[in-house]
Amino acid sequence: MERIANLRDIKQGGSLAFTYRGERAILVRTKKDDLVAYVAVCPHAGGDIEWDEGIDKLLCETHMSLFNAEDGSIYKHSKAVELSEGLARIELTIDDNRNIYAP
Ligand code: FES
Repeated sequence: MERIANLRDIKQGGSLAFTYRGERAILVRTKKDDLVAYVAVCPHAGGDIEWDEGIDKLLCETHMSLFNAEDGSIYKHSKAVELSEGLARIELTIDDNRNIYAP
């Protein structure tokens, strides 16, 4: 188990970048207060995944595709590319002190 952060480090509606098993990853605390994490590498061509708080979606900056925060599934792909899979989810655990861990 690897400690990523404490819940107080991330505001509701915000995100935090971290490294998971050598890959870029992103922790998101949604406006509904769900906590989710994904490998922040786009399954299409490896673009950087960022959190767009304004629209509550994860965004691939390379081709501007969007992913749902709840499960990483494809919300909308850009006109330029056809995506077949969503983001790889990282299961999280939170302890009594509100520390957040990835496996
Ligand atoms: S690299 Fe993300 S949609 Fe192409």
